[in-house]
Amino acid sequence: MLTTAPRGTRDILPEEAAKWRYLEDNIRECCRLYGYGELRPPLFEHTELFQRSVGEATDIVEKEMYTFEDRGGRSITLRPEATASTVRAYLEHNLYAGPQPVKLYYMGPMFRYDRPQAGRYRQFSQFGVEAIGVQDPAIDAEVIALALDLCMHLGLKDLAVELNSIGCPTCRKEYRQALLMYLSEHKDKLCQTCLGRMERNPLRVLDCKEEGCRTLTTAVPQMLQYLCTECAEHFQALQRCLEAVGARYTLNPAMVRGLDYYTKTVFEITWSGLGAQTAICGGGRYDGLVEECGGPPTPGVGFAMGLDRLLLALEQSGVTLPTASKPAVYITTVSKDDNQEAFTLLTTLRRAGISADKDYRQASLRAQLKAANRSGCHFAIIVGGEELERGAVAVRNMISGEQKEVKQEQLIEVLYESLKEDAR
Ligand code: HAM
Repeated sequence: MLTTAPRGTRDILPEEAAKWRYLEDNIRECCRLYGYGELRPPLFEHTELFQRSVGEATDIVEKEMYTFEDRGGRSITLRPEATASTVRAYLEHNLYAGPQPVKLYYMGPMFRYDRPQAGRYRQFSQFGVEAIGVQDPAIDAEVIALALDLCMHLGLKDLAVELNSIGCPTCRKEYRQALLMYLSEHKDKLCQTCLGRMERNPLRVLDCKEEGCRTLTTAVPQMLQYLCTECAEHFQALQRCLEAVGARYTLNPAMVRGLDYYTKTVFEITWSGLGAQTAICGGGRYDGLVEECGGPPTPGVGFAMGLDRLLLALEQSGVTLPTASKPAVYITTVSKDDNQEAFTLLTTLRRAGISADKDYRQASLRAQLKAANRSGCHFAIIVGGEELERGAVAVRNMISGEQKEVKQEQLIEVLYESLKEDAR
């Protein structure tokens, strides 16, 4: 137990971390282009926030939250998602009083007590955006375009966008009746959880993963047929915006998403190469959420993308991702007596902005040069021997194999020049 991370969590080692940094850099750039500012909410919140926003009858709240009582007796939950936190922050900092929409993005770990498998973890990372304060269907299109542009820029092809509208409280009332009637006629096929959910929120039954409930939901009444004029117009306008920018999508009238706060637009972006966990990104509009959390009636729309899955998809589709950085210079010594000289030189190079490392094992020069090779450095420097007596060091270009003697006082200049030249 002491030597393994908890189930569903994992370490990201330096080679892997380089890929994550690359993703994160691209995300930040994309958000800059689209005008989203970074929000860094806390990793835990009051449990009630998720119960109220994500919804009591959802899988997340019913089965997946990491909830505990803190030492002050408060019920705390590790965030399973960050839309709720974003809305809480929007209210806490009176962001509704400024210009609208407020466009925010976040990145970081989320926690769900899910059944771990490839692409599904108990601690996973999401990148999400939220645009709060406007109704314009063009902003629904904006968040979808942002997600697609990011994936396209990273080199991920063949994504599928599935789109649906689940209406507003007004049109959902009539739909709820029709759905309840249908479900009551097929009660015998519903799982235990859904029998309970039926009364509280029948829409949740449509998101159930149980075999019986799934067979049933294929013939179920569809929300699209019940949309009120406003919701239908919003949905049409969104589709026109997507078409105008060449964002291809398919309608999936059966999609309801696993969180209760959605109204109108819902969407998912999938990549079929991921096996069972194909959803890379999911989102939608949540026009009642700010009010539900105690604020003024305020619309909002956003998405979250699973970065673990995005990375898996990029790797599986053969996109080349950066590897961990290598030192420009690796310092070796002729004998043990040169150790301090080597350490001083190492520090001087680093302070001059040249990435450098040295061999710390006091091994033979041959073994040190082998290590230099393995480090992937550009130049190996050999400190000691006659060169040192002459106030110089030997500099070996590990790419061309060429070696030359360089005076210590000229070393930084020579390295700057050679590194610049070889980078061309
Ligand atoms: P979600 O669909 O629950 O939506 O999660 C979004 C994405 O997070 C999923 O499509 C998936 O890529 C990733 N994800 C979810 N659970 C796991 C897991 N256990 N392991 C790995 N990846 C996972 C939300 O979280 C909403 N807050 C999205 C949103 C933002 N809607 C509006 N604004």
